[in-house]
Amino acid sequence: MSAAAPGIAAPVRVLRFWNTTIGKKAVMAASGIILALFVIGHLIGNLQIFLGPDQFNGYARTLRHLPELLWPVRAILLVCVTLHIWSSLQLAVVKSEARPIGYAKRTPAGSSYASRTMYWSGPIIAAFVVYHLMEFTFGVGGTPYHEFDAYGNVIQGFKVPAVTIFYVIAMGLLCLHLRHGLWSLFQSLGFNHPRHMPRIKRAASIIALFVFFGFSSIPLAVLTGLIPQVL
Ligand code: HEM
Repeated sequence: MSAAAPGIAAPVRVLRFWNTTIGKKAVMAASGIILALFVIGHLIGNLQIFLGPDQFNGYARTLRHLPELLWPVRAILLVCVTLHIWSSLQLAVVKSEARPIGYAKRTPAGSSYASRTMYWSGPIIAAFVVYHLMEFTFGVGGTPYHEFDAYGNVIQGFKVPAVTIFYVIAMGLLCLHLRHGLWSLFQSLGFNHPRHMPRIKRAASIIALFVFFGFSSIPLAVLTGLIPQVL
């Protein structure tokens, strides 16, 4: 493979790389890593809700008052979500073209439960994010919303049991998706060392469980009254 063939313009080389299976996997891995970093950062920010309304609203206000940070981050997230979904669809097409006649009977040997769920957990997580933005960013999710009271919005939102249950289920799927995505990206990119893979899988599980318990703790703490409502 001529990675830097002289005389070929950079955009053509990028397009050629994208047209290979490894190129699509690399795009999916890179966009997935950036999205996972956002999720971890967002979780750490959100856990400040346990420190009270002043701390949490102060954090939300600080972010909103930093448009030079907020808008580039939003643009990067949008590009990453688009590339992640697009590359996953393209890889699904490549996979189905490689095996046009389906198995007579599916025997999921060697593939974990999480790997088989990637193609349906992904769309459910995407649907969750759309609802989440409607609820807490645009204020049209059907629960009370006040622009400058992120704390109150979260409390009012999670006081509704159906919303809390939906969040906990979505966080479970996000945990499965992250766990599989975080270790399989090493495999996809050719790093499959038998000595290091168990450690990578363990690290992926720890991060995914941190994300699950961290995020789920917020709606559950609201519903059980552990996080007080400010009147
Ligand atoms: C219990 C769990 C969560 C809580 C309490 C929460 C809370 C919030 C709040 C309050 C906002 C609005 C911030 C503001 O505009 O002032 C927000 C925005 C957002 N959240 Fe979450 N979040 C949770 C989980 C998640 C997850 C799991 C994801 C992604 C998979 C996510 C992605 C986003 C995105 C993309 C935004 C928009 C950020 C922006 O304005 O640019 N959130 N979240």
